[in-house]
Amino acid sequence: MSLYRTLRPLLFRLPPEAAHRLAVSALRVGAGPLLGTGGPPESRLAAAVGPLRLASPIGLAAGFDKHGEAVRGCFSLGFGFVEVGGVTPRPQPGNPKPRVFRLPDQAALINRMGLNSAGQDVVAARLAKLRRDPLPGPLGVNLGFNKDAPDPAADYVAGVRAFAGLADFLTVNVSSPNTPGLRDLQRRDALTGLLGRLTAALAGLPERPLLFVKIAPDLDGEGEAAIAETVLAASVDALVVGNTTIDRPADLPDWAKGEAGGLSGRPLKARSTAQIARMARLTGRRLPIVGVGGIESGADAYAKIRAGASAVQLYTALIYEGPGLVRRIAAELAALLARDGLTLSQAVGADLAATAPPG
Ligand SMILES: Cc1cc2nc3c(=O)[nH]c(=O)nc-3n(C[C@H](O)[C@H](O)[C@H](O)COP(=O)(O)O)c2cc1C
Repeated sequence: MSLYRTLRPLLFRLPPEAAHRLAVSALRVGAGPLLGTGGPPESRLAAAVGPLRLASPIGLAAGFDKHGEAVRGCFSLGFGFVEVGGVTPRPQPGNPKPRVFRLPDQAALINRMGLNSAGQDVVAARLAKLRRDPLPGPLGVNLGFNKDAPDPAADYVAGVRAFAGLADFLTVNVSSPNTPGLRDLQRRDALTGLLGRLTAALAGLPERPLLFVKIAPDLDGEGEAAIAETVLAASVDALVVGNTTIDRPADLPDWAKGEAGGLSGRPLKARSTAQIARMARLTGRRLPIVGVGGIESGADAYAKIRAGASAVQLYTALIYEGPGLVRRIAAELAALLARDGLTLSQAVGADLAATAPPG
């Protein structure tokens, strides 16, 4: 039995946020190798998201290390890339607690953190210190806006300026369900305006990180088509598909149906894989996709890659499976690729070709 299996009942007696703080603190002080050991990923897992080269396609999703406190610790678990944040320009407390709820039977979480952030100055200072020595893989920063921002787009521009020299990619989060008005930025006109301002801000900078856009699983067909057109027209480098859902599947317990926030984990799995395939088709596969939602095994990661994702991220399953999960997924994924005789890049979108409509 893994150490985590022994510790989990104790951790789950703590409120979710207290358990999370403990996990981040353990990773910050370098306990990662004790918790999830193993060598470097197999060469078969080498992946790319546009020009970003990854030793493993399995990344840490936004929201785990919101304040950039434990980046090296997160890499030590075997992630090929790490995304910190969401970060807002000014510090803000987020929503009142409790704001994270475990659903162990569904291997899911509901959260309404509301973009609690230490603020970009604190996070940027941490990342500047960190970057004095090379990191094992690319680092991303997830950008949000302050709840009371008069001009939300200006907050994202501020984020771009603060993190341009510190991050390999910046993710524009227009999909968190917990900040009023944030998801409205996914609409065609709003997104066009926002991306125009961001690409203008990036164009004037000496070091240009890649620009990713993270979308919600709750868009309708029209919304997805509008996003595909908009991101292709702007200089966006990848789509992150996607965030938590406001939907509540019928098999959730009643208390959870009444709890506001975004649902993540297993209930999101099939839905996000289907959305990855739709977005890959809508973008004519001209834009890399980072697939996120309910990944808890190598088979889950593989399904998202075959649906069109160049790389994947996860968060919720870490809570249920523990830190050894990352290397387990990598080993399972490598075995699946070997079974099918594919390299990772050959597997990207393999199911799209098989099921593409004629013409
Ligand atoms: C507690 C919590 C906080 C999150 N915070 C953010 C965030 O700040 N920005 C963001 O884009 N996504 C955030 N997410 C969404 C995750 O990055 C991810 O898209 C989602 O949880 C689906 O992946 P999973 O099922 O593997 O958790 C958060 C998720 C959780 C559970």
